[in-house]
Amino acid sequence: MAIVAAAPDAISEAATLLRAGHLVAFPTETVYGLGADATNGHAVASIFATKGRPQFNPLIVHVADVSVAERLAYFTDGARRIAQAFWPGPVTLVLKRRPESPLSDLVSAGLDSVALRMPDHTVARSLLVAAGVPLAAPSANRSGHVSPTLAQHVDNDLGDSVAMVLDGGPTSHGIESTIIDASSERHVMLRAGSVPGLVIEQTLGIKLVRSLQAEGARPTASGQLASHYAPRAKVRLNVTHDFAAGEAVLAFGPFEELRHRAVTGPFVNLSPGGELVEAAANLFAALRKLDATGATSIAVTPIPGQGLGEAINDRLIRAAAPR
Ligand code: TXA
Ligand code: MG
Repeated sequence: MAIVAAAPDAISEAATLLRAGHLVAFPTETVYGLGADATNGHAVASIFATKGRPQFNPLIVHVADVSVAERLAYFTDGARRIAQAFWPGPVTLVLKRRPESPLSDLVSAGLDSVALRMPDHTVARSLLVAAGVPLAAPSANRSGHVSPTLAQHVDNDLGDSVAMVLDGGPTSHGIESTIIDASSERHVMLRAGSVPGLVIEQTLGIKLVRSLQAEGARPTASGQLASHYAPRAKVRLNVTHDFAAGEAVLAFGPFEELRHRAVTGPFVNLSPGGELVEAAANLFAALRKLDATGATSIAVTPIPGQGLGEAINDRLIRAAAPR
């Protein structure tokens, strides 16, 4: 696979590849996405094949601006307010598809809804404008693995099956977008993400219904699969003592002191200063780094659950889920 610096020439080449039905990985403010022309069913299908996804989960469709989004789906008043406040940015809206929408049915996995997002990243937006089509783009990792926050992660996971990776350096948020189903009066948070639920609630004076742990039901967001975002090593949560010999440790803030005191294995602190934004940005790269040491177990110290901590803990609970 070609990893190419995201200069203007490379972006127009990537747009040409996308319009011809090829896959291109590109940076967004959250994680790297594996992009395909969302109106081309064959291209969308090759996303599933490339990721090795066990089933056809619906995919997020990325758009260059709100007017494109309005042509693809019906915006409720609530959806319009969320988009006004948070687009461009890492909030994805699930809305009812317009029947005349040119999107492939596969992006919705047969549902009558579609997930739309307008990314806040210069490369992603230039690419969307150059391609002139909406782009379906799940995170550019092997299915079930941690999401990529560097171009190199995409290469490690997907190798030659991707035509091109646009390298825009490390992603700034490091955790995926928050997904809100705004297709009805009830606003349901389907996936915690880069924008904390509380921030959306306080900005708009609305109440979000949390449906993150919906069990039994067919998952509608890949984050709802119990085991997901999983490294190879087994993950143990909320560990503060009794680390196994050689066990890797993923720490946060004050647990820096464990580095030399209690830990014999590899050690990464997501944010020595205890900042949740920094921790989210470092999360997936840290899991990959600890996994790459060959440690068979990763112990995670407690991480506060408020604000962005909600999404961080959600990802870690899934990484620790039985597989
Ligand atoms: O930050 C992000 O959102 C990244 C970057 C690349 O933009 N994308 C991403 O896509 O995380 P993906 O496919 O890994 O996760 C999106 C999830 C899917 O698992 C899917 O189940 C859910 O959004 N989704 C898509 N369409 C949906 C729909 N119509 N109803 C409910 N959930 C939907
Ligand atoms: Mg993903």
